[in-house]
Amino acid sequence: MDIDLKGRSFLTLKDFSEKEINYLLTLASKLKQDKKECVYNYNLLNKNVALIFEKPSTRTRAAFAVAVADEGGHSEFLNSNDIQLGHKETIEDTARVLGRMFDGIEFRGFSQRNLEILAEYSKVPVWNGLTDEDHPTQVLADLLTIKEHFHKLKGIKFVYIGDGRNNVANALMIGASKVGMDFYVCAPKSLFPDEKLVAQCMEYAKESGAKIEISDSTDIVIGADVIYTDVWVSMGEEAKSKDRLELLKPYQVNEALMEKTGNKNAIFMHCLPAVRGNEVTHEVIESENSVVFDEAENRLHTIKAVMVATLGK
Ligand code: CP
Ligand code: NVA
Repeated sequence: MDIDLKGRSFLTLKDFSEKEINYLLTLASKLKQDKKECVYNYNLLNKNVALIFEKPSTRTRAAFAVAVADEGGHSEFLNSNDIQLGHKETIEDTARVLGRMFDGIEFRGFSQRNLEILAEYSKVPVWNGLTDEDHPTQVLADLLTIKEHFHKLKGIKFVYIGDGRNNVANALMIGASKVGMDFYVCAPKSLFPDEKLVAQCMEYAKESGAKIEISDSTDIVIGADVIYTDVWVSMGEEAKSKDRLELLKPYQVNEALMEKTGNKNAIFMHCLPAVRGNEVTHEVIESENSVVFDEAENRLHTIKAVMVATLGK
């Protein structure tokens, strides 16, 4: 493929074409196979990567750290409480300093704007490990998991149910509309996705052939191939917990909802961490149709692909 992503940042899938996304998925599959066969490519040999976390993480942090190590590089975890990041010095200054020392920077935090500033001022590839608005590395893992399972993305009926305006829902709508997967949101009206983002994704969908539909009725799950949910209260929104739990109760993924799809081969997906008993029941997450741990593993291979493509030799 004539695709070169060297030097690019990975801030949102909005910046990537269908071809580029598919290139990253193909690379991730290859790197996954290589690891299974103990083939080491050392694509990040002598590269130093900073991992900045303003919010907690298990999967993203572990995936970045292991991916860098697998490729022969070094990663340094920088807890935002321990560094100056917008306190005492500007984000721009921190970015310029880190860019002089590190070859690439992962950032998980609140503000998408701060992520963009990091990329602009550090002048090295910056990778989005989750912001309030977006979670693009998660979506690559999700797309890879769906491709492994169904051997295609186009024509798949993907239903996201729950908080339809959080970072994961946004990122999935962007990713699905770019690659031509039919994307349905099932959420209470007050948690429908942002209209501007929907309009932007409709434009991507025109090009890729994807459908986008949004409804507050769970009837939208009928015929689904994939049922996906995420936590009802995202990091940083803890104050809204009580209201959210009430509002989202009818949108729990339980056995009745999975049956409502009418498709016994429909898979269950969740980015994790999951709050069992809230957005999903124990029975569904432990069922044969649940692929949540394949998704979690694929965080490693897809994050590795992003770093190798943008920074590798
Ligand atoms: N899915 C995900 O991003 O998990 P972590 O918050 O554990 O990184
Ligand atoms: N929407 C969740 C995703 C966690 C991976 C959050 O932001 O907390």
